[in-house]
Amino acid sequence: DPQTHNALISRGGDGENGHSNKDATGRLTWPLLFAAIVVTLGSSFQFGWNTGVINSPGKVIQEWYREIYRKRHGYNFSGDPNVTTLAPGDIDKNMLDALWSVTVSMFAVGGMIGGITTGFWTDKFGSKKTLLSINALAILGGALEFSSRYLHSYEVLIFGRLIIGINSGLVSGAAPLYLTEIAPVNLRGELGSSHQFVVTIAILLSQILGLPMILGNAEYWPVLFALTIVPAVGQLVLLPTCPESPRYLLLTRQQATKAQNVLVRLRQTVNVHGEMEEMKRENDRLLAKDKVSFVDVFKKRYYRMPIIITIVMMLSQQLSGINAVFYYSTRVFEEGAGISPEAAVYATIGVGVANVIMSLVSVLLIDKLGRRTLHLLGLSGMEICTIVLTISLVLLGKGMSWATWICILAVFFFVVSFATGPGSIPWFIAGELFDQAARPMGMTVGVVTNWAANFLVGLCFPLLQNVIDEYIFLIFSAFLLVFIIFTWQCVPETKNRTVEDITAKYRRKSIG
Ligand code: GLC
Repeated sequence: DPQTHNALISRGGDGENGHSNKDATGRLTWPLLFAAIVVTLGSSFQFGWNTGVINSPGKVIQEWYREIYRKRHGYNFSGDPNVTTLAPGDIDKNMLDALWSVTVSMFAVGGMIGGITTGFWTDKFGSKKTLLSINALAILGGALEFSSRYLHSYEVLIFGRLIIGINSGLVSGAAPLYLTEIAPVNLRGELGSSHQFVVTIAILLSQILGLPMILGNAEYWPVLFALTIVPAVGQLVLLPTCPESPRYLLLTRQQATKAQNVLVRLRQTVNVHGEMEEMKRENDRLLAKDKVSFVDVFKKRYYRMPIIITIVMMLSQQLSGINAVFYYSTRVFEEGAGISPEAAVYATIGVGVANVIMSLVSVLLIDKLGRRTLHLLGLSGMEICTIVLTISLVLLGKGMSWATWICILAVFFFVVSFATGPGSIPWFIAGELFDQAARPMGMTVGVVTNWAANFLVGLCFPLLQNVIDEYIFLIFSAFLLVFIIFTWQCVPETKNRTVEDITAKYRRKSIG
């Protein structure tokens, strides 16, 4: 029956868990598991590591910035501790904050650059070769960051963050792509979301190794940054032994025999005809269709709603304020909640643990409760937490020190709520709203939007905090409210539905 046929083909290309697909040769074989481990621990790990690594040692590195600035500008200390005006050649707080914001957010500038070019590289070389080559960027970035201190240059550190950001931008597009391309239909959801799961593990590990008594101190922070080279080298050695993506071989390179050989290896059975047939039918459909351009996804009426949903979902992930926590929580805890520097770092680690555990729970729930429900639940939880956090910060400002605990708990549940849905679903949903022809373009627009918003938060948060102080999280509150209403009104539930089914609605509407 042609309708079931189409539904199966369509499932073959989405991020959906097609348990009902009879053609699926869906065992978790050793070659499949090995490739997934190599790619998540080699690539997804770097994205998470470099997101989290900047948090704990932020203060000691800023002190180093101050030292360099003073040396360069002939700082002249008056010797009188009662003099409050800035001594000649000294750096003022706003300037130091601005310099640090640039350091933090340069990562996202790189992310945008990487994100924009993901489609080009993966189309030309495939996701595996893309992931392999960008390890060179990780090694270069790590080496720059490491050497910055010995070169006495924060510019080199900032440049290193840019290079490592380009690497992470490419990872955030190419890693989920490779994972979903090698997965059998019934394991596609789990494999795709293992990306975000390893991202959270890497953030946590960077927070632990970033403890002042381990590597997050004036002496060893360059080593902390350089550690990103380890997974890159490991992947350079191991990824060449992993299979090429069968979908890339057949759909992009038109190499059917090679694709079949890879499938036999991945599925550990010669009985891969069903999957081959599915890919071939998808290929025929693709060949019959014009390529969808950047302009098309905005102009064609039946892509309009999917692209709006993709963009807003990505914005809801970043403008929720999540990275205000992952880049700056140590500072929020210290300056906002007034807890000791040591306790602030441990609180940050607690937040990382909550993120990992909840991300795992979310992977298990996503196909049961559905994307829309989990996303709404997560955003609503975050909304409540931002309000509670603001109230507790105001109370703290009035000298009520018991509010410290409420403040820490609010940040904690803010992250738990994030990991319930908004952490992983925006990466998924773009893959579910577009047909195969428009999916790469839809994904590219989504990834770039995500990194642009990430950039904005990283740059503006500390500057705004200086101005509106304890009311800073109300900005995220306002954004969250808009995203809750939007999700409620416009985001369809996509769980257990084929892409054919989901996109049909937009096609009908555009004709209507
Ligand atoms: C997602 C976001 C990233 C954030 C992370 C936290 O991967 O894209 O910006 O830092 O979740 O878990």
